[in-house]
Amino acid sequence: MAPDRIPADQYAAPMRGILLAGGTGSRLWPMTRSVSKQLMPIYDKPMIFYPLSTLISIGIREILVITAPADQDPFARLLGDGSQWGLRLSYAVQPRPDGIAQALVIGEDFLGGRGCALILGDNLFHGMNFGSWARSDMELSGAHVLACPVARPSAYGVVEFDADGRVLTLEEKPARPRSRYAVPGLYFYDSEGAKIAKSLPRGARGEFEITALNEYYLRERSLRVTVMDRGSVWLDTGTVADLARAAEYVRVVEERQGVKIGCVEEAAWRAGLIDDAHLRRLAEPLLSSGYGDYLLRLVD
Ligand code: TTP
Repeated sequence: MAPDRIPADQYAAPMRGILLAGGTGSRLWPMTRSVSKQLMPIYDKPMIFYPLSTLISIGIREILVITAPADQDPFARLLGDGSQWGLRLSYAVQPRPDGIAQALVIGEDFLGGRGCALILGDNLFHGMNFGSWARSDMELSGAHVLACPVARPSAYGVVEFDADGRVLTLEEKPARPRSRYAVPGLYFYDSEGAKIAKSLPRGARGEFEITALNEYYLRERSLRVTVMDRGSVWLDTGTVADLARAAEYVRVVEERQGVKIGCVEEAAWRAGLIDDAHLRRLAEPLLSSGYGDYLLRLVD
C-alpha cells in the first residue's frame, strides 16, 4: 500500500553536493565509447546540466564532480570552476566504476565531515519543490532518500513499505520486487555518510552498493524516505530508449510551456547566485542556438 507523502525535510546550507558522473555507459555503446554518458545531449543541453541544476535548486553551492579518469578534461571544459554560475566546483576521479557508494569515500576530504547530497549524473528530476529543502538551518541527521513508483522496479533499488508507510526493506535490483517504489539517484547523508560508506564491504556484484549504505541507516532507524509527489517526474537515461524518452519529454515541456528544464544558468539566477547583468553576459555567446535568447527573456 502506498504511504502518505512525508513532508520534505529541510537541509542546512553548509551541506555539500557530489555529482557522480563516472560509469561505463555500456548500454549506450558505441555512443559512449569515447564520450561520457553524462555529456550526451538530452534535447538541448548536456545530460549533466539536469542533475547540476537540481543540486542548485536544493541550495547547494559547493559541488564535487566525480568522473571516469579519461573524462575529467571534457567535463572541466564544459563546467569550469563553476564561478560563472556562482558555484564552487571541484573534480575527482573514480578509477573504476566500483559502485555508487564509493562516491562518498572519494569525496570524504571534500566533505570535511559535512552532510551531503549525492546525485547521479544521468538522473533527471522535474517538478520537485526542492526550494523548501534548503531554506532552514536544520542539520540533517541520518539519511534521506526518495521513492518513486515505476513500471520496472527490478532495475533499481526497491523500497517496501508497511501499511503505515514505514520502510520495511530495501533491495538492490531484486528479481521479484516487493513494491513498485524505486529509489531515485538523489540521496542525502549526514556527516557520518562517508565514514559508514568506507566501512561497507563490496556487494554480490562486486560493487560498493548505495543500497547497502541506505540499509545501514535503515537498520539504525535513521533512514527517511519521501515518496515523490504524483506531479513530479524522475527519469534516468541509461539506455537508448531512456535517452530518447527523456529528450522527448524535455522537448515537449519546453516547446509547450516556453520554460527550460535543467537550465543551469536559470537555476543559478533563480537561486540568487548571479544577477540580471551577469545572466545577460552569459546569454551572449549562446544566442546562435536560441539558448541565449531564452536567458535574455528571463531578465527582460
Ligand atoms: P549505471 O547506469 O548503473 O551504470 P553506467 O553509467 O556505467 O552504465 P551501464 O550500466 O550502461 O554500463 O550508473 C548510474 C549512474 O551512476 C551513472 O550516471 C553513472 C554513475 N556511476 C558512477 O559514476 N560510478 C559507478 O561506479 C556506478 C555504478 C555508477
